[in-house]
Amino acid sequence: QWTPELIQAEIDALKHKPGALLPILHAIQDKFGYVPPEAVPQIGDALQQTRAEVHGVISFYHHFRTAAPGTHTLQICRAEACQSMGSRALEAHAKASLGVDYHGTTADREITLEPVYCLGNCACAPSVRIGDDIHGRVTPEKLDRLVSRMTT
Ligand code: FES
Repeated sequence: QWTPELIQAEIDALKHKPGALLPILHAIQDKFGYVPPEAVPQIGDALQQTRAEVHGVISFYHHFRTAAPGTHTLQICRAEACQSMGSRALEAHAKASLGVDYHGTTADREITLEPVYCLGNCACAPSVRIGDDIHGRVTPEKLDRLVSRMTT
């Protein structure tokens, strides 16, 4: 759980480096699972950037979350090899069956759905990652099985 003091410690550790904004955002997300909106003015003050500038960077990069993730993260690969093997249909299926869009978390707070751009598993496209595990040749049916395994 983040606090303003813990966020400040992450900022202070990196703020003197050139181009500190991205490393700070990564450090905060790695530590707390997301970048709390409350951290934006703190980061802006430390780097002498406006809130709009900091917010712009956060929203530009798909990687950053602005809300706490669910217990599990399901990433679907949207890069080319996976798209050519049906990842668009897979993501439509995931969004419909979980009832969330990308960056959304299911109502029970179990699963956060995220896009990802190549998992290095192109030969077995389409690929998804659940936590640290990469799964290949994922059909909608296989995805359903993986999801039910996650939540039981
Ligand atoms: Fe999906 Fe490489 S394009 S794993």
